[in-house]
Amino acid sequence: MNHYIKIPTVKSVAQFIETLQQLNLALPCDREVLTGDRSPLAQPLTVEGLTASNRFAVQPMEGWDGLPDGNPSEMTFRRWRRFGSSGAGLIWGGEAVAVQHDGKANPNQLVLDEHTYNQIARLREALVEEHRRITGSPDGLVVGLQLTHSGRYSRPQDKPAPRILYRHPILDRRLNLPDDYALLTDGEIGQIIENFIRAAKLAWRAGFHFVDIKHCHGYLGHEFLSAYTREGAYGGSFENRTRFLREVVQGIRAEAPGLRIGVRLSAFDMVPFRPDPATSRPGKPGIGAPERYEHLLPYRWGFGVNPHDPTQPDLTETVAFLQLLRTLQIRLVNLSAGSPYYNPHIQRPALYPPSDGYQPPEDPLVGVARQMEVVRTLKALFPDLVFVGTAYTYLQEYLPPVAQAAVREGWTDFVGLGRMMLAYPQLPYDVLTGAPLQSKRLCRTFSDCTTAPRNGLPSGCYPLDEFYKRSPMAEQLKRLKQRHQRQSETTY
Ligand SMILES: Cc1cc2nc3c(=O)[nH]c(=O)nc-3n(C[C@H](O)[C@H](O)[C@H](O)COP(=O)(O)O)c2cc1C
Ligand code: SF4
Repeated sequence: MNHYIKIPTVKSVAQFIETLQQLNLALPCDREVLTGDRSPLAQPLTVEGLTASNRFAVQPMEGWDGLPDGNPSEMTFRRWRRFGSSGAGLIWGGEAVAVQHDGKANPNQLVLDEHTYNQIARLREALVEEHRRITGSPDGLVVGLQLTHSGRYSRPQDKPAPRILYRHPILDRRLNLPDDYALLTDGEIGQIIENFIRAAKLAWRAGFHFVDIKHCHGYLGHEFLSAYTREGAYGGSFENRTRFLREVVQGIRAEAPGLRIGVRLSAFDMVPFRPDPATSRPGKPGIGAPERYEHLLPYRWGFGVNPHDPTQPDLTETVAFLQLLRTLQIRLVNLSAGSPYYNPHIQRPALYPPSDGYQPPEDPLVGVARQMEVVRTLKALFPDLVFVGTAYTYLQEYLPPVAQAAVREGWTDFVGLGRMMLAYPQLPYDVLTGAPLQSKRLCRTFSDCTTAPRNGLPSGCYPLDEFYKRSPMAEQLKRLKQRHQRQSETTY
């Protein structure tokens, strides 16, 4: 089994910099974290007339805790309030909100429609109120809403109900889809586009500054970009694969003219990974290894993937996509990578895998560096776009000095925080005000926030957030994990 350096054992910034050097990673890292006006992270940034008071962004983080009709629950409100309490200047999307019921990724995903409009508007207000309470002002806060259709990963009731655009030689098999499984028709796509536009209008009415037309993590928007083998108006050429985005944007511009638009994009991808059976041990999944792809070359089922070696990114079409965003006058871009379903190590680097995952095939710091490098490359090519970078949580104690250096050196405009915002939402506020980091609250990438929803429980930081830790759900999660362990022992 691989052994990677555990971040809590790294005792100083100097030692962390040495660790990066040992791994051959050219990540920037400042030796001192600054506060007040001198801090690069405290610099405001204005885009399309909206000003964020600092360079922290809260990434969208779903909770699997909405009501069956798509309205938020008390737990959803709690999470959004905590996002507000971060003091971050940019809230990128809150969480993925489906534009229609059958596009939900789980039975408890939020849906934006007339019957949920009031409560989703209240969610935003609760977040803004908490930001005001913590920072003393409602200003300097930009709030967007992430709109989605889950496509291949739709699961509106308690079993998967994939809506796919094309046949995927690996993912179809994983999802047990027969060869004649129905593809979404162009007519159905037209209806989904209408629903994106309708939801965007509601988001605008509710006071959100922008909507994110989600194009990441294997969901529908992202699947369009890799629909090379689909026939008809939405597949094949780059123009056809981006038609969905262009039609959604055109509709929003016509019907919600003041609403800004952003896109969260998986900027690169890789072939799906799985636990390598050769390294699996009782109760412990094997190390992640790519699925066999030799018979699938050139590989045509991933966006931002090298077709001749699909274990490597290729940014050629990513660059073309950003050029398109520029043409569409979209300046807000949030870059992520891959998918939590089929290659989580590139998407959310972690030391401990979720129950359906695999042991990390590389030091998770390599995954952090890969995402940061891609943002740096694209920011250099598109200085006029405003970028949010992803995958900073794994840096733990060294998140602040790396984040500060990344912004200071122009690698990214905003530092996006995902899991850290479940474990320790006040981290941005503490960094900005010079308060010491609360190391006991740092996310250690235990992945319970993914294991829980994979097994039908709400997400949350079960190890570190007292609310989840003390809830009956924690007991359920413990039993589920024990059951998984026993099952994998008997099938070994
Ligand atoms: C529990 C959980 C929920 C998530 N929900 C969303 C989501 O709704 N939309 C989205 O774009 N990404 C979602 N993500 C991905 C995060 O936004 C982020 O990209 C990822 O966690 C990596 O960032 P980090 O290293 O800071 O955690 C989720 C991740 C986790 C762990
Ligand atoms: S459960 Fe908590 S500590 Fe574990 S990955 Fe999620 S946020 Fe981090």
